[in-house]
Amino acid sequence: MRRCLLILFFLLVTLWWLSRPGSLPALADSNETPTEEEIRRGEYLINVAGCVSCHTDAGNGGAYLAGGLKLDTPFGSFFAPNITADEETGIGLWSFGDFAGAMHLGISPAGERYYPAFPYTSYTQINSSDLRAMYAYLQTTTPVKQRNERHDTPWYTNRFALRGWQTIFFKPGVFQPAADKDETWNRGAYIVHALTHCSECHTPRNAFGASRPALFLGGVGEGPDGDPVPNVTPSKSHGIGDWDEDELLLYLEEGELPDGDYAGGAMVDVIENSTSALTPTDLQAVAKYLFTVPALDSN
Ligand code: HEC
Ligand code: HEC
Repeated sequence: MRRCLLILFFLLVTLWWLSRPGSLPALADSNETPTEEEIRRGEYLINVAGCVSCHTDAGNGGAYLAGGLKLDTPFGSFFAPNITADEETGIGLWSFGDFAGAMHLGISPAGERYYPAFPYTSYTQINSSDLRAMYAYLQTTTPVKQRNERHDTPWYTNRFALRGWQTIFFKPGVFQPAADKDETWNRGAYIVHALTHCSECHTPRNAFGASRPALFLGGVGEGPDGDPVPNVTPSKSHGIGDWDEDELLLYLEEGELPDGDYAGGAMVDVIENSTSALTPTDLQAVAKYLFTVPALDSN
């Protein structure tokens, strides 16, 4: 039933897309030479945003950011591409506009739409100064010659249908700080939403794979690996409402749970490749923000 609905949906959007003209939003380019400080900041942001978890096939001895890792999803198997500075097989020849197009709009330099297996749905919220720093750092990475593998997806989830998917389910937009909250809260919210993309795993999706904001961090019965992803809202009965701040900090830094057990599953990579890289100030901002999201009694 779910599959029939999906096929029907993707067929309809394909037809609809074929019947209308497309346009690519223009993006400003930059010719400024990045400073060393900007490159280091970019490295920090790339670490915190967990790019390595997908773009490095660590389990098979893959080179840093050279891609190749297979990601199995209900919408097919995806192979993360090479994002090293290699000019032929990586993104070494990309302009800043190309990079911003991918991260902010989910559009490739050739105008193709990306699958949301690449979490641009969260990265779209990264501000342009941070995007510039990330781009500057990526351009300094060791170029690795490694060709991208073709994704293995069902025919109805083609790149044409993705345009429809993006129109309906994806709103590009940079994170907007809340005027009635302090700087720490806003910093935490920015990191959680734009960079560490906690929601991509901890928030339930609809039948079309789009995140359901009303259930933000409410937990998922069947997550990326088919394993459950817990509710991490401050609900006392279902979430982490009975954790104190130090317990949450310890978990995000080292993976140790309040009961002395350790994190497992996909969260191990998240801690290793993302949250453990956060500075103490940023980590505290994340914890502060997490304890203020609406508590949900689900999962
Ligand atoms: C959850 C896995 C995942 C994470 C995390 C991730 N990516 Fe990706 N990325 C992908 C996949 C899968 C694609 C291919 C999408 C497609 O072909 O439609 C992709 C594509 C890309 C592309 C386009 C490359 C090309 O050749 O067209 C860029 C650039 C990119 N990612 C950069 C990043 C950066 C920078 C980060 C960290 C801020 C990041 N990605 C984090 C999975 C991921
Ligand atoms: C790639 C998917 C993924 C991402 C991204 C992710 N998580 Fe998790 N998270 C999981 C899974 C799976 C578990 C369950 C781990 C286990 O079984 O031990 C988990 C567990 C947790 C727990 C423990 C909850 C409990 O009750 O045991 C906390 C807290 C948590 N995550 C917070 C976060 C935060 C904060 C972020 C963003 C910084 C984040 N997660 C990003 C998949 C993810």
